Amino acid sequence: MTVTATPEPLTQDALSSLMREGSRAEHTSAENTTFMTDLLEGRSSVEAYTVFLRQLAAVYEVLESVGRDLAGDPVAAAVVDDALMRAEAIDADLRVLAGDDWRDLPVGPAATAYAARIAETRDDAVLYLAHHYTRYLGDLSGGQAIGRILQRAYGLTDGGVSFYEFPAIAKPKIFKDAYRANLDALPFDDETKARVVAEVKVAFGLNEALFAEMSA
Ligand code: HEM
Repeated sequence: MTVTATPEPLTQDALSSLMREGSRAEHTSAENTTFMTDLLEGRSSVEAYTVFLRQLAAVYEVLESVGRDLAGDPVAAAVVDDALMRAEAIDADLRVLAGDDWRDLPVGPAATAYAARIAETRDDAVLYLAHHYTRYLGDLSGGQAIGRILQRAYGLTDGGVSFYEFPAIAKPKIFKDAYRANLDALPFDDETKARVVAEVKVAFGLNEALFAEMSA
């Protein structure tokens, strides 16, 4: 992704606005899941968070591998950026939380289904955008507060929360503005924009299914 200060007019039908507005209800629903509220209000445990992060490892593995495969595609290139890559941070956290053999922890059906859906977008960069946006813009938004809350609530002072830290991104707000401008500069017709928005809803649904599995 190129970070430039191109001011794109944020009209009602700018892709980034459609994505945000189109997933507002899903976002509220995800925020209010039992899993998320328990986790953020200190009613969960380091063990439960570890299981969850192991699921996210499986999801990001595919998200980042498809991103690398699509990096030469002009659509995916609008958003794919090394500064976002989470695999190393997840590995570091899981080594702290679960030890070097963290890959032996099981990946459940929800993360398996989520990863499979992302893998399908390898041939469809337009849909890949939706998965990229849903995870990384979330990590750069609410995720920033979530990292600090987890650290405090579960005493994770010796590592384990680097997933929420983006050392290569000094100012998340500026980065997110550039990200949205890049999305909005893609030459998409209304039908293509609608496909992206529909897939953002799918991505939120897959996250919610993962949360449901985690609290079950
Ligand atoms: C308790 C959990 C959550 C909290 C407290 C939270 C909080 C927030 C906040 C405050 C923003 C707005 C930041 C801004 O205006 O720059 C935001 C944006 C966002 N969140 Fe979350 N969030 C949560 C869960 C999630 C989940 C589970 C996902 C998806 C996996 C997600 C995806 C997003 C996305 C994609 C955005 C960017 C919206 C946009 O500007 O286009 N969030 N979140």
